Amino acid sequence: MARRILLLGGDDPLVRKVGLLAGELGMVLDTDGDGAAPATEPAVVVVDLAAPDALEVLALWRKEAPEALLVAHLAVPHRDLWEAAERLGCDLVTNRGALVARLRDLLSGGAALGRHLFPLLDAADVAGRLGLVCRTATTPAGPVALYQVDGVLSCVADVCPHAGATVSEGALDGSVVTCPAHGSRFDVATGERLRGPADSGLERFEVVEREGRIQLVWSGRQ
Ligand code: FES
Repeated sequence: MARRILLLGGDDPLVRKVGLLAGELGMVLDTDGDGAAPATEPAVVVVDLAAPDALEVLALWRKEAPEALLVAHLAVPHRDLWEAAERLGCDLVTNRGALVARLRDLLSGGAALGRHLFPLLDAADVAGRLGLVCRTATTPAGPVALYQVDGVLSCVADVCPHAGATVSEGALDGSVVTCPAHGSRFDVATGERLRGPADSGLERFEVVEREGRIQLVWSGRQ
């Protein structure tokens, strides 16, 4: 079955352009979505951020179709909406005029479906920071902490596998963090467990810099 692009909102010219792109990529265009997730998950969901309930629709699709690429577009720049869409787990937020080209790049460039980006902070805010750079409790992958050790960024889960303490609140010595609850130690550069009572390490996540932001690469795991 051909993969499906679900286009929610948009005028006739946009529907026509996205339809042409879908044909070009061997996909099918669906414009019938009403915000409720159908039985078969679309490969791509495109939402018009100008719609009054756009953020609720994005949140619904991020939850109901975790493997889909989630795309939002805006005709008029609106930073708050843009950032809210990113925080909801959009893989792409773009100006409407660039939507088709950006979508083509994303899909024909081999974008791995099931991999999503979540912004952690501006890349400019990382420069010169050592050790714990930021912690974010609300990513789709759960709480994570971003560290910079020896000039390398590393993002690991911020929940201790022993009893759930916030690991980043513990002391950091070089690349070794000590859980504040019961003293487990982990290497934040690799996530490796160095000392118990935790019996496993911290999950490590890939991060990339895109469009001036450090972004968490999330595999869609729930
Ligand atoms: S919760 Fe971290 S060592 Fe117990």
